[in-house]
Amino acid sequence: MMHRKPVFAANWKMNHGPTDARAFMHRFLALTPRQQDRTTIFFPSALTFATVAEAVKERLDLMIGVQNVHQEPQGAFTGENSVLMARDAGARVVLVGHSERRHVFGESDETTAKKCALVAEARLIPMLCVGETLEEREAGATASVVERQLSAGIAGLDDQQVGAMMIAYEPVWAIGTGRTATPEDASDIHGVIRQLLVARLDVRPAAGIPILYGGSVNRGNAPILLAASDVDGLLVGGASLDPDGWSSIVRS
Ligand code: 13P
Repeated sequence: MMHRKPVFAANWKMNHGPTDARAFMHRFLALTPRQQDRTTIFFPSALTFATVAEAVKERLDLMIGVQNVHQEPQGAFTGENSVLMARDAGARVVLVGHSERRHVFGESDETTAKKCALVAEARLIPMLCVGETLEEREAGATASVVERQLSAGIAGLDDQQVGAMMIAYEPVWAIGTGRTATPEDASDIHGVIRQLLVARLDVRPAAGIPILYGGSVNRGNAPILLAASDVDGLLVGGASLDPDGWSSIVRS
């Protein structure tokens, strides 16, 4: 299997304005030496993006992304941010189809697919998020839901663009609940995702795509989840908000 650098991604959601972020980054950078063997990504809010970009500009091991973009490249969409703006501001990665976009804001597979294609066309990395609700899990539909979301997300991309993506498996019932998937559960679903990518791309290119786990990751469970097979990284919400805790996770 191709070697994949582990990816540690902080999704700050609607937390940390510029003032908090400046203090966070000051402390985080002091605690966290440069690490060439892993990739760390920050997803601050759009209003905080410039503050974080400024703080990481001399750290090539730290990447920055946005939490969402609109599905059109520009136009009369008051309140929205476009992928072109994200690229211009220095974003390298875009979260697409996060559980809260899907379930709080009603984003469909179709919208998610458009966003993935737009992000890939702009030569940024889509980090496509997939995951089942508790109801779907209890109905035994986990694999089929994840397959549906993934197939839709990659349908409009060519093979090279799919090969450059990142995927995050975040079971909805594990997000912000303190209830984490077991490493075995995560491995099972990551295996389903990997098989689908193999079917689309073949073994070698599919092996290079990082598949992150997200949902109530904390400093205690991070090393255990990361050791599970096919878990190539972590997408972290709550536990990425404190610089000491987040630094300890990215150094794990
Ligand atoms: P928590 O780590 O707070 O459960 O959030 C996970 C998540 O949604 C990251 O995108």
